[in-house]
Amino acid sequence: MGPSRGSLVATVAVLHLLLLAPSMAAAFNYADALAKSIIFFEGQRSGKLPPGNRMPWRADSGLADGAQYNVDLVGGYYDAGDNLKFGLPMAFSTTMLAWSVADFGKFMGAELPNARAAVRWGADYLLKAATATPGALYVQVGEPGRDHACWERPEDMDTPRSVYRVDANKPGSDVAGETAAALAASSIAFRRSDPAYASRLLHAAMEVFDFADRHRGSYSDSLSSEVCPFYCSYSGYHDELLWAASWLHRASNNASYMTYVEAYGMQLGAGDDDYSFSWDDKRVGTKVLLSRGFLRRKLQGLQLYKAHSDSYICSLVPGTSSFQAGQYTPGGLIYKEGESNMQYVTTATFLLLAYSKYLKSSGATVSCGGGVVSPADLVALAKRQVDYILGKNPAGRSYMVGFGARYPERAHHRGASMPSVRAHPGRIGCDAGFQYLHAGGANPNVLVGAVLGGPDSRDGFDDDRGNYAQSEPATYINAPLVGALAFFAGTTRK
Ligand SMILES: *[C@@H]1O[C@H](CO)[C@@H](O)[C@H](O)[C@H]1NC(C)=O
Repeated sequence: MGPSRGSLVATVAVLHLLLLAPSMAAAFNYADALAKSIIFFEGQRSGKLPPGNRMPWRADSGLADGAQYNVDLVGGYYDAGDNLKFGLPMAFSTTMLAWSVADFGKFMGAELPNARAAVRWGADYLLKAATATPGALYVQVGEPGRDHACWERPEDMDTPRSVYRVDANKPGSDVAGETAAALAASSIAFRRSDPAYASRLLHAAMEVFDFADRHRGSYSDSLSSEVCPFYCSYSGYHDELLWAASWLHRASNNASYMTYVEAYGMQLGAGDDDYSFSWDDKRVGTKVLLSRGFLRRKLQGLQLYKAHSDSYICSLVPGTSSFQAGQYTPGGLIYKEGESNMQYVTTATFLLLAYSKYLKSSGATVSCGGGVVSPADLVALAKRQVDYILGKNPAGRSYMVGFGARYPERAHHRGASMPSVRAHPGRIGCDAGFQYLHAGGANPNVLVGAVLGGPDSRDGFDDDRGNYAQSEPATYINAPLVGALAFFAGTTRK
């Protein structure tokens, strides 16, 4: 159900005012929010934790992942509030962390090494998953049905750690394409700080892309009930192939990837219009990424992508003829759907800022039905989203755990909701853990920096652990926000 007509008019008016008077004064301590948004990833780490891991209630877990199959799949990230390692969202989160470093790393200050460490934790795992067995890519550890039937700390996990892979007979161009994109984007993030690592990442990215393109198919068909409905590739694999080729072009500057984009772009969705960007659907993200090539590098073959980026951006800008007001809550938050809506907020915010940067660097603007929208307008719109998340919203609460005076205390997250292994060293079994899911009080462990699924279409939010649609965190909610927070930490007046 969308907002009523009256409230839409009010929403447009309010947002329009904000656009007319963009204020770049810092409403919040963005540097603190940035630091916390990265600490969240340290809480999602699987594997052997390094000394100094900053989520003190976490310990090692999943140390035998892959062992029964004679592959090393230790490491990586748990996707959300459970103990599964899903390749598609993990790769997307890594891509977005890497894009954050590549485009906004210069604003990160002391947080840059921490952001790179977050990229590396994902990239190291993806590198293993891509190179352990020639001709195969490992795409998941753990059985969703069995894992979800338990409420267990990752450190106690005793559910089957089954391993799933795609190969020539069971293709998965979607998950392989995203993995190639993640490795290529990560290579950009390490180009200066660790060139040898960057070149290993790039080499692996090229191989995985070749595999994805040569053996075409969706992992949702190859692995069906193991990956669906959890991270089913609803958008198919065309979007990931074009996305991967675009990242490979940016990372390698190898003309063969531009030739690929020009030859197959239309077949792979270049002409589609789409209005959300997520772990599943890369179309709009690809358009903004390729617009960079058109705007900054004058690659004329990419003009089409600038046109499509413009129509996406215009749909978000209040007061223009192509504005789609249904995309906002009455309080001004981008709204797509009830489950984990915040992921669409953070991806859209990231794209507004990245596009603003590319436009600005070439002195370009966006033409929305005759009206001119400037890079500064896009920054103001993005700031409104970030400020909403941090507390400037009708409920007056922060949606980032551990940030601000009032934040969610009942994240739907196994580890955070149970006594830690330090406080309670004895094992807590599969069924015994459910008392903590159903307990009324605050989580005993603060999942610092986690941004949760967020409010409903009317800006309503229950701080209820059982309401996973609103209260579950996810790596792909936080990853794009890292770049956005870096931008505001680096550019607003203190
Ligand atoms: C460019 O990429 C193609 C396709 O992956 C590869 O065959 C070729 O060796 C690359 N060229 C360079 C200079 O790296």
